[in-house]
Amino acid sequence: MKLGTPLSDTGVRVMLLGSGELGKEVAIELQRLGVEVIAVDRYPNAPAMQVAHRSHVIPMTDPQVLNGLILAEAPHIIVPEIEAIATDILAEIEASGLARVVPTARAVQLTMNREGIRKLAAQDLGLPTSPYAFAGSAEELAAGAQAVGFPCFVKPVMSSSGKGQSFVEDTDQIADAWTYAQEGGRVAGSRVIVEGRIDFDFEITLLTVRSRGADGETATSFCAPIGHRQVKGDYVESWQPQAMTPAALAASRDIAAKVTQALGGWGVFGVELFVKGDQVWFSEVSPRPHDTGLVTLASQTQSEFSLHARAILGLPVDATLREPAASAVIYGGLEAQGVAFEGVAAALSTPTADLRLFGKPEAFERRRMGVATARGADVEQARERAREAAAHVKVVRS
Ligand SMILES: Nc1ncnc2c1ncn2[C@@H]1O[C@H](COP(=O)(O)OP(=O)(O)OP(=O)(O)O)[C@@H](O)[C@H]1O
Ligand SMILES: [Mg+2]
Repeated sequence: MKLGTPLSDTGVRVMLLGSGELGKEVAIELQRLGVEVIAVDRYPNAPAMQVAHRSHVIPMTDPQVLNGLILAEAPHIIVPEIEAIATDILAEIEASGLARVVPTARAVQLTMNREGIRKLAAQDLGLPTSPYAFAGSAEELAAGAQAVGFPCFVKPVMSSSGKGQSFVEDTDQIADAWTYAQEGGRVAGSRVIVEGRIDFDFEITLLTVRSRGADGETATSFCAPIGHRQVKGDYVESWQPQAMTPAALAASRDIAAKVTQALGGWGVFGVELFVKGDQVWFSEVSPRPHDTGLVTLASQTQSEFSLHARAILGLPVDATLREPAASAVIYGGLEAQGVAFEGVAAALSTPTADLRLFGKPEAFERRRMGVATARGADVEQARERAREAAAHVKVVRS
């Protein structure tokens, strides 16, 4: 693909479906290469819209509206950033050759539904996963929970960021877990997955990049493993590298190579894995940069956003780690529009610290509004610094 001049006949047009903080960093990397960026989301002034050439506010789950916009903008490449998209349209667009979908329309379809990706990973590829069952009613859920054993996790098949998810220790919590999943799922009346709990030592994101290699064939590169801490299904802290045994690292890469190859295409994938000693289980995969990978803004030669931009354009990538680093999330902590940030100077006076303030028009209690990153001699020092920097930042009503 030949790069050109944005807003001219030679411009390479990339349409981002979803314009959050991860899309914003991807947009900035594309802008640096002179790519024309069209940002789309369901609300105005979303983070990536603020750094794009143009933006559109549409319901991305509406197939007619989405199709109309794609035909009108005629992007060369479509980059889904979220899961709540009318993916059937993406498959049609890809099949007609109108645009390339990143990484592939099938990958986007399979990963938006836990049923699709779990069956691919466990049944087709034979990868180790937690024991699991799917259920379409509270009764089926009760039977599924018995089969996988307690304690277990109940999750709507279509949800993210821990929405509608319950940790269930006993049969008498099943009815509540079913109701909660119905309320938290992306679509009403949706099925659930029940997964046996894996008693892991730690969990990682293995960022895996599929890009065009020197020989023109697709090459797979791995970033150093990212460790992270989750609270209520949302990441609060991540660090890179996460120390692990050589056997566990080899098993992680093997799983990541297999699942990303099955999904195909070019781009960054966030492969979520559970690790205990030398043993590794596949959890899930995002066919796009991963939130825990925000740490790569500080740790890597090329961040996951730079890697994604390069990979989707067919350019070479360098996934190497530069220095240990960490990220710590800054939450809204309140509900207000047009918030202000106090303590930024103090945060940035922490050694090696850097900040991203996403520019989201509205804050919620549990909404991610920014992130602090820091480097260190080791991961422990980096984590302390990132936490310290994040703690200085206070979200306030203007
Ligand atoms: N089977 C399991 N065993 C142990 N822990 C689990 C299991 N399933 C989920 N968890 C814990 O819950 C977290 C969130 O689960 P999962 O990644 O499936 O949800 P999600 O809604 O897709 O979250 P996100 O969108 O943030 O990745 C995991 O990172 C892990 O900490
Ligand atoms: Mg997850």
